[in-house]
Amino acid sequence: MTRAVFPGSFDPLTNGHLDIIQRSCRLFDEMIVAILVNPEKNPLFSVEERLEMIREVVAPFSNVRVDQFNGLLVNYAAAQRADCIVRGIRAVADYEYELQMALMNRRMQPDVETLFLMSADTYSYVSSRLVKEVFMLGRDVTGLVPPTIEVRMRQKLQR
Ligand code: PNS
Repeated sequence: MTRAVFPGSFDPLTNGHLDIIQRSCRLFDEMIVAILVNPEKNPLFSVEERLEMIREVVAPFSNVRVDQFNGLLVNYAAAQRADCIVRGIRAVADYEYELQMALMNRRMQPDVETLFLMSADTYSYVSSRLVKEVFMLGRDVTGLVPPTIEVRMRQKLQR
């Protein structure tokens, strides 16, 4: 039984993240989308809201579950008996930071591999930060996030 963790802030989950989930759930028996609980950040969505939204989006995938974690990712991965950490790489700019994290994680937990997957080129410029920014400044984000997440973003803005 192979198990992978796909960690992130997912504030919010974008179609780029979803693309990585779709690709990686074909490679592992079980995939855990793990939301980092990071009290220092000022998120748009609470962890509970993100859990609920992502659960809705991944409902069609029978081998994907959604969870939250705090502290070190490698501790969480080991506790879940995961073989692998999956991260998406969009462009060269992502690589340096991702490499640093992967090597530090390997140093701490050598038996957990990091697997980099390339997102579809359609999403190579899509990040949660930019999606939030353009949305908050009044532009449409259709096609960049799953429809249910777009609805939740609109509800946030109205409040
Ligand atoms: O989507 P993000 O915000 O780029 O995801 C970053 C994440 C959650 C993968 C990273 O910040 C992380 O693993 N944080 C948990 C704390 C940790 O393990 N830090 C050491 C990393 S080498």
